[in-house]
Amino acid sequence: MTRYRIGLIPGDGIGPEIIDEGVKVLDRVSELEGFDIDWISYPYGADHYLETGELLPESALKEMSGLDSIYLGALGDPRCEPGILEKGILLNLRFYLDQFVNLRPIKLLEGVSCPLRDPGVVDFTVVRENTEDFYVGIGNRASVGKSRQHLEVLRSLYSVKFGLDVEVDGSEIAYQVGVMSRKGAERIIRYAFDLAVRKEQERVTAVDKANVLTSIYGFWREVFNSVAADYPSIETEFNFVDAITMWFVKKPSWYQVVVTPNMFGDIITDLGAMIQGGLGLAPGGNINPDGVSMFEPIHGSAPKYKGMNRANPIATIWAGALLLEELGEVEASKNVVSSIESLLKEGKTLTKDLGGSATTSDLGDAISRKLDEFY
Ligand code: IPM
Ligand code: MN
Repeated sequence: MTRYRIGLIPGDGIGPEIIDEGVKVLDRVSELEGFDIDWISYPYGADHYLETGELLPESALKEMSGLDSIYLGALGDPRCEPGILEKGILLNLRFYLDQFVNLRPIKLLEGVSCPLRDPGVVDFTVVRENTEDFYVGIGNRASVGKSRQHLEVLRSLYSVKFGLDVEVDGSEIAYQVGVMSRKGAERIIRYAFDLAVRKEQERVTAVDKANVLTSIYGFWREVFNSVAADYPSIETEFNFVDAITMWFVKKPSWYQVVVTPNMFGDIITDLGAMIQGGLGLAPGGNINPDGVSMFEPIHGSAPKYKGMNRANPIATIWAGALLLEELGEVEASKNVVSSIESLLKEGKTLTKDLGGSATTSDLGDAISRKLDEFY
C-alpha cells in the first residue's frame, strides 16, 4: 500500500483547529482510496518561539526536504513582532524548499454566495511567483551621511550580492530592493502555460506594473513574451495590477490562468478569495514540481477566533485536496472537492462566516461523511 509521509505544521491562532479537520478528511479519504498517510507533526509557531526563541531550525528544514508533502495551518500571532513568524517560518520554508509556484484557484463553488451581483462562472487559477520580487527581503535604512551597505540573496537557481555606497542628504531613508531573475520568471511563466494546456484553457493573463516599475516588470514582460512564443495556440494579454483588481470585480468570468509576480499575487488573491465567497473558502499550494510542496489556506491565523471552534475549515480542507492532487491522488482530490461542494450546495452545515451556526469540527465531520457517497 502506498504510504505518504506528510509534515504537519498546525501553527498559530485557529491553525490547529482547522488543520485537525483537514487531517480528519484526508485520513478518511485515504481509507476509502486505500493509501496510508503518516503525519509528522512539527511544533513551529508562536508558542514554540516564545518558549524557546527558536523559529525553524535548519535540522527541521533538512528533515522536511525528505517528506512527500507539508500541510500547514496558519502562522502569525499578535504577541510576536510583525513578520517574525511569517518570515522565519513560512517564507523560510517556501524559499528553502524552492516552492516557486504559489497556486491559488479562484473558484466560486455552487451554493456559495458571491458579493458580486452577477459574477457569472468564476473559475480561474492564479499562478503566483513565490520566491522573488519584493519578497526577497533585502533592504535597509540609511541615515544622513555616507554608509556602505551589503545586500544578498541566495537561491538554488542563483545568488546575487549588492554592495551599495549610500550617501544621503536631507532625511533618513529606507529602501527595499525587488529582484527578478530570468530563470525565476521563466519557470513560473512556463508553469502557467503548461497549466493552461493541461486544463485546456485558451488564455493566460500576465500581471505587472510595467508602466512604472519598468526595470523589473519590463523584464517580466520580455520573459513572458519569449515563453509565450512556445505556446502559439494560447492567447495572451498583459494586465496592470491596478486594472486587474477592477476587472476581477467587473468581469471575473473572463479569467482562466493568471500569472503574477509575488507581491501583486499576494494582493490580488485576497480579492480573489472574496470573489469566491470569502477567505474561509480560499486554498493555496506552495509547489515545487520536483521537490516538496506545502499546502495551506490563504487566510491568516485569525487570533481572535482561536480555540472557539467557529472558524471555517473549508479553505484548509480544500488545500488538502490540492495536496492530494500534487501527490498524484487525483480521484481522492476530486472527491474531497466534490464533498465540499455538496455540503455547500446543501447549505445545512455552515460556519458563521457562511451564515450558519455549525462549528469547525461539525464541518470536518460532515465533509468526511459526504466522502462516503463517492465510494
Ligand atoms: C499569504 C500571506 C503571506 C504572504 C504572509 C503571511 C507572509 O499573506 O500567503 O498570502 O505574503 O505570502
Ligand atoms: Mn496574503
